[in-house]
Amino acid sequence: MARRRQLYEGKAKILFEGPEPGTLVQYFKDDATAFNAKKKGTITGKGVLNNRISEYLMTRLAEIGIPTHFIRRLNMREQLIREVEIIPLEVVVRNVAAGSLSQRLGITEGQRLPRSIIEYYYKNDALNDPMVAEEHITCFGWASTQDLDDIVALTLRVNDFLTGLFLGVGITLVDFKLEFGRLWENEEMRIVLADEISPDNCRLWDAKTGEKMDKDRFRRDLGKVEEGYQEVARRLGILPEAGPRDMTGPEVMQ
Ligand SMILES: Nc1ncnc2c1ncn2[C@@H]1O[C@H](COP(=O)(O)OP(=O)(O)OP(=O)(O)O)[C@@H](O)[C@H]1O
Ligand SMILES: [Mg+2]
Repeated sequence: MARRRQLYEGKAKILFEGPEPGTLVQYFKDDATAFNAKKKGTITGKGVLNNRISEYLMTRLAEIGIPTHFIRRLNMREQLIREVEIIPLEVVVRNVAAGSLSQRLGITEGQRLPRSIIEYYYKNDALNDPMVAEEHITCFGWASTQDLDDIVALTLRVNDFLTGLFLGVGITLVDFKLEFGRLWENEEMRIVLADEISPDNCRLWDAKTGEKMDKDRFRRDLGKVEEGYQEVARRLGILPEAGPRDMTGPEVMQ
C-alpha cells in the first residue's frame, strides 16, 4: 500500500506529497551522480548525512533572516519543506578557483579569487545545465530583474555567513550551488532558498591541508568518500554518535 504520493524522483532526492497543502517531504537517497549523471554510484549513508547537514545549515541561515523552504526534519532521511515554484537556475558562488572555472578559464585550482563570483546555470538536464547570463534569464522569463536582485542579495549573505561558519570548523568554503523558489503567501511572492546545502553541492576543503571533503572525492575517485561527508558533519557537531545508519524509531540527536 502506498503511504503517500511520490511527486518526483531526482538524482539525489525524492519528493513526496506533504501532510498539509503547500508542503512536501524531501527524501535523501544515497545515490550519487556526477558529470550530468554520466557517472553513477552510491555513497553509503550520504542521504542521512545530507539530510542532517542541510537541516543544520538551513536552520542557521533562517536564524540570520534568510527565508528558506525548510520546516523540520522528520526522520533520518526525510525533511518537511514548503513547496515552492523552483526558479530553473543553479546559482553558483565561487570563492576559490576549482572545477569548471579552472578548466574553462585555465585558472589554477586553489587560487583564491580577488572577489566572489556568482554564476548562473539553466537547470535543464537535456541541455547539460548550460551557463547563462542575466540577459538570458530575463529574456526568457526564467526570473525577473527584481527576482535576480533578490537572489543576488540572498546569495551574497548566504556566502558570507557560510564562509565564516565553515572557517570556524576549519573548512574552506571553495564554492557551492544554491536553488531558489517562489513562495506565494496572501497574493505576495517571496523568493526563498530551496533544495539542499550539503557536500553534494559545496566544495569543502580542509583549511589547513586542502583535503577535499565533498563530492569531488566521488567525481575524481579519491576514495574515502563516505568519510569526507562524515567529517563535515562531525566538524559541524551534528554527527550522531553511532554514525549514520537507517532507523525508524525516534532518536534524539543534537
Ligand atoms: N521546496 C521545493 N519545492 C519544490 N521543488 C523543490 C523544492 N526544493 C527542491 N526542489 C526540487 O526537487 C528536486 C530534488 O531532487 P534532486 O536534487 O534529486 O533533483 P536532480 O536530480 O538534481 O534534478 P534537478 O535537475 O531537477 O535538480 C529538484 O528538482 C529541486 O529543484
Ligand atoms: Mg538536485
